[in-house]
Amino acid sequence: MNAPLRRVTVPIEGRAYEVVVGLGAVAELPSLLPPTAKRIAVVSQEGVPVQIETTLPHEVFCIGQGEQHKTLATVGDLCRGFARMGLTRNDVVVGVGGGMVTDVAGFAAASYHRGVPVVHVSTTLLGMIDAAIGGKTGVNLPEGKNLVGAFWQPSGVICDLDALTTLPEREVRCGYGEMAKYHFLTGDDLLALDLTDRVARCVEIKAEVVASDEREGGRRAILNYGHTLAHALEIATEHRLAHGEAVAIGLIFAAHLANELGRIDIARVDEHFEVVGVAYGLATDIPRGLDADRLLDLMRKDKKALDGLTFVLDGPAGVEVVPGVADEPVLAALARML
Ligand SMILES: NC(=O)c1ccc[n+]([C@@H]2O[C@H](COP(=O)([O-])OP(=O)(O)OC[C@H]3O[C@@H](n4cnc5c(N)ncnc54)[C@H](O)[C@@H]3O)[C@@H](O)[C@H]2O)c1
Repeated sequence: MNAPLRRVTVPIEGRAYEVVVGLGAVAELPSLLPPTAKRIAVVSQEGVPVQIETTLPHEVFCIGQGEQHKTLATVGDLCRGFARMGLTRNDVVVGVGGGMVTDVAGFAAASYHRGVPVVHVSTTLLGMIDAAIGGKTGVNLPEGKNLVGAFWQPSGVICDLDALTTLPEREVRCGYGEMAKYHFLTGDDLLALDLTDRVARCVEIKAEVVASDEREGGRRAILNYGHTLAHALEIATEHRLAHGEAVAIGLIFAAHLANELGRIDIARVDEHFEVVGVAYGLATDIPRGLDADRLLDLMRKDKKALDGLTFVLDGPAGVEVVPGVADEPVLAALARML
């Protein structure tokens, strides 16, 4: 018998919604659909192993694989498809896939008829604990990733852990990179939890942060723990390092930097290694051949940097945004890892 499903509420004022987590959770989809929905536009990808069972009339729209398809053109095609099937504002879009599908389906839903409800059925670990939660949707431009988008909260989210059995190993690793981050955002011992409870707890942590700062005015930035070096590594390796792999290294760097700044002791740095390198088995070294000055330069240009070099760092008051960090401790932390 499967472990019981977990239900987590994302407590956004006036638009709270449920996330259902567990094996077989997709069977709960009907309970998350708006009662007004008479038709469903399903947005998915070839190779996503989850099918939606519904008695409502529906049409499935398959979008391409990979970031090069995360575009306004794809959103345009979807909206034209919605129009042809006669989708109205009372109906619903259901995104079935990883973060790419839920970002694109969410943005198409936010735009079509100036907003139709959307439900996400997340099928990757990264999607379940991150992308499908919190209402950020969007697409890429040739000028940069996720440059066009909208905040559009879903009406509900399904995290069916059955989907993870077919997930390629590298995608699992990427999910672990983001999951490792949650270990440091609260004092919880996430390793003591089974997968259903751990995914549910990650969702709960993200939900609480998002509800306190829906539009990323401040606190939501702590979700970027480990991401400043990660973004630089993705660019410096021309995306040979995937996002979650880069976050894993970025978490270790953030710990070293916090230690350089006297914010955490070496035992806490070791805890980062224990979680990232040992528990999740992720690579924690900066790849060979990368240069500290180049990484420093890329971090200075990070779009989330408000005041010179800005980092999200652990410390006596927990993880928080630390602006105006000098070059020297950053270079010293990098030197420990290069
Ligand atoms: N909105 C947000 O808050 C947020 C947060 C983090 C990431 N993102 C976005 O999420 C995207 C990355 O998401 P991702 O890591 O889930 O990657 P992805 O959606 O690109 O999926 C990776 C690959 O796995 C396949 N796949 C999906 N589910 C599968 C399954 N169950 N079995 C086998 N294959 C499966 C997909 O078809 C794809 O080829 C990026 O575009 C990123 O910008 C958004």
